Amino acid sequence: MLTKKIESILNEQITKEAYSSNLYLAMATWAEANGYGGVAEWLYAQAEEERLHMLKFIHYVHERGGHAIIAALDQPPKDQQGIKELFAAVMKHEQYISQSINEIVGLAMEERDFTTQSWVQWFVNEQIEEEASVSAIIDKLNLLGEHNMYLFDRDVIGMRRPSQQTQP
Ligand code: FEO
Repeated sequence: MLTKKIESILNEQITKEAYSSNLYLAMATWAEANGYGGVAEWLYAQAEEERLHMLKFIHYVHERGGHAIIAALDQPPKDQQGIKELFAAVMKHEQYISQSINEIVGLAMEERDFTTQSWVQWFVNEQIEEEASVSAIIDKLNLLGEHNMYLFDRDVIGMRRPSQQTQP
């Protein structure tokens, strides 16, 4: 059985993962509408992955006898300044999510909920991968400069992580 505090922080994470999915979906629609089909494809896959993260949390809360709550979400920004700014925003968001996963680990330790502490390790590792993958994209963007955006847009399709490539 989850303590109220753990149930509540897991529910907050459900909302954050749902928002992440919508954020990347909104970014994908901006990219697609602006001719960046490759970036859009990467972002659509990322949005699907975030939805799966949300579902993992929902199922875990229920397995432990809690009640997952589906909350209202803020509207993500509909416009972006450009591709570099977009990936900088993805990185900032992933760092925020990593921090929030760390807070779950911290609270699970405080509450002596070793099951949650162990379960959430998957997300600790996932965040390392996600940040590394976005960082690799940003490095590539910095190398290419503005004039090679077409090549970058083609390349980014091949930079999807294995977990993203299993998405429809
Ligand atoms: Fe679900 Fe990108 O963290």
